[in-house]
Amino acid sequence: MTAGTPAARGFGHGKIILVGEHAVVYGHAAIAAGLSVGVTVEATPGEGRLRVPAWSLEARAGDGSDVGRALDAIVDRLDARGLDFLADAGVPSRAGVGSSAALAVAIARAAVRAKGREDAAGADSPALEAAVAAAEAVFHGTPSGIDAAAAQSGAVGRFSRADGWRPISVLQTMTICVGLSGRPRDTAFQVAAVARLRERLPTADGILALLGRLSDDAQTALACGDVDGLGRILDTAHGLLAALRVSSPELDALVHAARAAGAVGAKLTGAGGGGAVIALAPGHERDVLARWRAAGFDGFLAEIAATEPAERIPSRAGGSS
Ligand code: MEV
Repeated sequence: MTAGTPAARGFGHGKIILVGEHAVVYGHAAIAAGLSVGVTVEATPGEGRLRVPAWSLEARAGDGSDVGRALDAIVDRLDARGLDFLADAGVPSRAGVGSSAALAVAIARAAVRAKGREDAAGADSPALEAAVAAAEAVFHGTPSGIDAAAAQSGAVGRFSRADGWRPISVLQTMTICVGLSGRPRDTAFQVAAVARLRERLPTADGILALLGRLSDDAQTALACGDVDGLGRILDTAHGLLAALRVSSPELDALVHAARAAGAVGAKLTGAGGGGAVIALAPGHERDVLARWRAAGFDGFLAEIAATEPAERIPSRAGGSS
């Protein structure tokens, strides 16, 4: 791309983790959904600057800040220097809905397009995936890769370190309530806290394994359209995550408020500590949002779309990997 040519754009999806966060770090499976909202980035000829007005964020590749180091990692691996990036963020930052992965995917896709190196089929290359993984490592230390995979896919999928991302069957479109605690999450801190807990509490490994098994159950519930069953799985997962000490008073308050407003299940989503919760409340979604607002929390609705029959994966996957 040269000056005067139209800007190249890239998009990365926000995400929610339905079940299996933290467990996925230890090799178990997790189920996540890419959101239709995310981050759009426009790349133009420039000097490696990034602006995200919605997050009041400005950085430059290699300026020493985390964002600058992440940007540097992307343009370095994609050999895509000489570009400026302007991001339009449709998800809040550090809220547990995959903002950093969405931004990294959007920057990488815009950079590849700007350099005229896009795959003819529009598919992401291994180099792009490696660039996004390098950026995520700057933010999160040793991420499992689930956020980046969901940000690229936008669909509902099962992720494990061994098998990567696999789209899964969803019989029935479901609306998910997403509640924001207003407290920023710190993924690296929460992952390190769970690692410390494992050293002091051998049972923690059993809790992580149970979370992985709940991912199998959630996959079956999604394939069968069993909304009540999925709700019970969310509730159980929240209890297990609280036992791992990654919940917080705000996240617990959001979960209890959702249940009081008619949710069939609710849990924290993502790393925890701060960030967001998700709730499944068929027919009561607006009640949940209203109850959250009355308690001083923002929220929004996201849809998990049913997959076409041809995309369905009929057999239940085996045990957590
Ligand atoms: C963060 O969205 C999910 C965690 O499991 C960390 C990871 O998988 O990298 C907490």
